[in-house]
Amino acid sequence: MIRRRVAILISGRGSNMVSLIEAASAADFPAQIALVLSNRPDAAGLKRARQAGIATAVVDHKAHPTREDFERAVDAELASHHIAFICLAGFMRVLTDGFVERWTGRMINIHPSLLPLYRGTQTHRRALEDGVLVHGCTVHFVVPELDAGPIIAQAAVPVVPGDTAESLAARVIVQEHLLYPKALRMICDGTARLDGGRVVFSRGWDASGALHSPS
Ligand code: GRF
Repeated sequence: MIRRRVAILISGRGSNMVSLIEAASAADFPAQIALVLSNRPDAAGLKRARQAGIATAVVDHKAHPTREDFERAVDAELASHHIAFICLAGFMRVLTDGFVERWTGRMINIHPSLLPLYRGTQTHRRALEDGVLVHGCTVHFVVPELDAGPIIAQAAVPVVPGDTAESLAARVIVQEHLLYPKALRMICDGTARLDGGRVVFSRGWDASGALHSPS
């Protein structure tokens, strides 16, 4: 089995990063987390990565005058760790089209909504304002347009009376932690691949069942 060398890019607490590191510690996982890179020196996730014995790097965006300079430094770190694949996990820098295009089909992101609904920030608050009864999270390939790339996997959760942005976020993040490793596995073992701007899946589907909300 080939284990693809993966970098996780973070800016904050890194709870999705931890779920990826834990999943990749299984012997049959088709990826190894070879690097955790943060644009913020104070990102809490860096400490958690080091505790897990993962190589870490900081490329502080404030130390680079332009986005291109910043990304050149990021690329140098990725190259020196022979990275094949990037997972964005709460990485709060917008990447240039050039960077995104260099990593087409090899960079994925997790977003806390059922895309294409609620691109951008404040997804839980906006879902509550709209009164939707089903919400969730999405893993997608990264394209230059923000939160608009081909979808690899989604998980849905109910929205219930009394929910706040915080309670909904707490329900969604549990699913994020399950979904992201699953999506990374699918990409790395070839179950899902990018083909002409769409994701093609080789595995069969279960078309039965549904999440009813209210149940
Ligand atoms: C997650 O909600 C993820 O969907 C979004 O940023 C948040 C990162 O959280 N892209 P964490 O740092 O993984 O805990």
